[in-house]
Amino acid sequence: MLAAVFELARPLLFALDPEQAHELTLKSLEAGIYPRPGRPDDARLAVEAFGLEFPNPLGIGAGFDKDARVPDAVLGMGFGHVEVGTVTPRPQEGNPRPRVFRLLRDRALINRLGFNNAGHAAARARLERSRPAGVIGVNVGANKDAADRAEDYVAGVRAFYNVASYFTINVSSPNTPGLRDLQAPAALDSLVKRVLAARAERMSAGNPKRPVVVKLAPDIAETDLEPIVRVLLDRGVDGIAVSNTTAARDGLGAAAAHAQEAGGLSGRPLFHRSTVVLARVYRLTGGRMPLIGIGGIDSGATAIAKLEAGATLLQLYTGLVYEGPGLLPRIKRELVAYLERKRLARIGDATGRRAHEWAAKPPTG
Ligand SMILES: Cc1cc2nc3c(=O)[nH]c(=O)nc-3n(C[C@H](O)[C@H](O)[C@H](O)COP(=O)(O)O)c2cc1C
Repeated sequence: MLAAVFELARPLLFALDPEQAHELTLKSLEAGIYPRPGRPDDARLAVEAFGLEFPNPLGIGAGFDKDARVPDAVLGMGFGHVEVGTVTPRPQEGNPRPRVFRLLRDRALINRLGFNNAGHAAARARLERSRPAGVIGVNVGANKDAADRAEDYVAGVRAFYNVASYFTINVSSPNTPGLRDLQAPAALDSLVKRVLAARAERMSAGNPKRPVVVKLAPDIAETDLEPIVRVLLDRGVDGIAVSNTTAARDGLGAAAAHAQEAGGLSGRPLFHRSTVVLARVYRLTGGRMPLIGIGGIDSGATAIAKLEAGATLLQLYTGLVYEGPGLLPRIKRELVAYLERKRLARIGDATGRRAHEWAAKPPTG
């Protein structure tokens, strides 16, 4: 029923500036106005990854709930996990507006928000108050003007240790100048070493182990991917998320409005590129760690393709903007139908079935 209400609200939301529409969406979630699934998830959709249990593989990607305002509502809608953030130690305004653009015909967004967020203390206080019942990832980043960026990630792990189910180290946002340099193998090695040392400190004080996931860009050249994945395997991170938004503009329709805006492109045109890179990471890791597949999921078919390319978990954001909350139950239904068609016992059995095929494709499609 409420999905139908969203259909009515859609023209209104699309008449607003994208950031205003987003704020209105968060406000309605804060007010408890969102569709709830009528029944629990099919047991075959349950996933176990890095020691955590998920009722289904679908999560909401970072950026939707940067300040941890509505994790309960997102879980209440039927997402199997929510990744809040990116949070930085100190509050930050981000870039001047406008800084989010809809590419309607391409079913895409370009954003150059630049880690606008209210800082660690605000998000942590909310999570401490609400203690959401479900998997909460905290995506941590660095302030734009940080003297030592790696220390900001370490501070994130320390600040959220007791309220996060897992951490994502975001070194792949295109909107903080120089941030992606942290993906270079030497810088990444040093960063991950320090983050894992901060975790070890917490564990030696008697706290449980919190999984650490590293989120990569889809713009990493094939030859650069191997040394990056090697660092992550050698250091022993728990998972890899592929991918963040792209700086590339291929796959857009001719003369798309806003195509030349600076920022990261998400949604349908990101699907192919991010799925190819996901499959390459899957092949490089040999399936030894769970991967989170992100980028352009907006249907059952795109969700299934991500799993077959190598994902254990999935996240989406832009698809929800264009399809509305009905997307989530639709994908779940299509996943169950796929399991029946393929005679698979559980969704985890889909992971990597077509990784070879995807990994061999050119990323530009
Ligand atoms: C408006 C917007 C803000 C985002 N902010 C963040 C962020 O703060 N941190 C992050 O790691 N990813 C961020 N992302 C990237 C998403 O989490 C996701 O990786 C990307 O959009 C691809 O998925 P999609 O095609 O389903 O949107 C943002 C994306 C959008 C559209």
